[in-house]
Amino acid sequence: MKDPLSMVRDEVRAIAAYSLLPEIDAPLVAKLDFNESPLDVPDELKDRILARLKARRWGYYPAFGAMELRAALARRTGRPAEEIVPGNGSGELIAAALSILARPGTTLVLPKPAFSLYFQVAALAGMTVATLPLNPPDFSLDEDAFLKLCEKNAPAVPLLCSPNNPTGGTVSREFARRLAEVSPVILCDQAYVEFARPEFDLLPLLDAVPGLVIFRTFSKAFSAAGFRIGYAVARSPLVDELRKAVLPFNVDIAAESFAAELLSDPTFSEESVAAVTRERERFAVALRGLGASVAPSGANFLFFSMPGVDPARLRRHCLLNGVRVRDLGTPDLPYLRVTVGKPEENDLFLRLVKEFE
Ligand SMILES: Cc1ncc(COP(=O)(O)O)c(C=O)c1O
Repeated sequence: MKDPLSMVRDEVRAIAAYSLLPEIDAPLVAKLDFNESPLDVPDELKDRILARLKARRWGYYPAFGAMELRAALARRTGRPAEEIVPGNGSGELIAAALSILARPGTTLVLPKPAFSLYFQVAALAGMTVATLPLNPPDFSLDEDAFLKLCEKNAPAVPLLCSPNNPTGGTVSREFARRLAEVSPVILCDQAYVEFARPEFDLLPLLDAVPGLVIFRTFSKAFSAAGFRIGYAVARSPLVDELRKAVLPFNVDIAAESFAAELLSDPTFSEESVAAVTRERERFAVALRGLGASVAPSGANFLFFSMPGVDPARLRRHCLLNGVRVRDLGTPDLPYLRVTVGKPEENDLFLRLVKEFE
């Protein structure tokens, strides 16, 4: 009998499955590893969301095309509903975009370090990846070198993440405009944009750059990672092609009810973003005070290294004390990423860093 695995594509067999499980089953005190919001949706708001959900027919599929949700997102983004594609988290939409762009020989071009999911979805789409290392200690992008890398790898699809996971850096509108001169399509993951200064919002570029595809999510600024909901914004006719790559009814009625309620009154999200960005500055100053090199961050996390400290050991020390952070470094880039949590969670983490030898 022939081996069933002989039927699985080589590029799929070559990658490891995406895994996020902590390897130690320690008690959890502060979850600072997934860039989630430290603030849960208030009970009163949860009640309103549940009331919306209760009023729906659960036995029916969600409304085809999610027109109401798209209309609410259109009001939020200032773009027409036809330009919006909701998704089961923004990850689904990034995978969908790569699936429509991956011709044999097309290269995905990324600054590095980058969100690990990109490598997985690129492999699944059968794309080759070319990376340009960001420059420590601020992890800025060498813009000219990035443009050259795209030109060299044509046909290339650049994927920018702004603010970038895991470094927290942002790209300017001016750079995106320059990139559009060399790349007909530009993908930009803005999962964390609400935590950055308004000039880093790339939505205002859409009129000038018809090949721009922007990905957004409710998982971070809206405290809704437990619901799976994100959206892409792109111009016609590109957006019509993207829509073909998502499954029908990909956003369920629970996620839809959540989004509808949060979009009708964004106060909770705005206040929690303001609290997190304020705390991010205090946290960064305190971490620098302990001797850390902390990259400037426009997101809800900090990317840092402690001179002379092995990140894997520091992470383990935190884990054993109930604090989860990510070790995203490499031997030549010994960095960790910590989510901005509640002040008391961050203080606990700072204490663990301080006492670590
Ligand atoms: C840069 C980036 N993009 C996308 C996502 C995925 O978000 P979602 O929950 O919307 O799938 C994440 C999640 O951590 C992320 O860090």
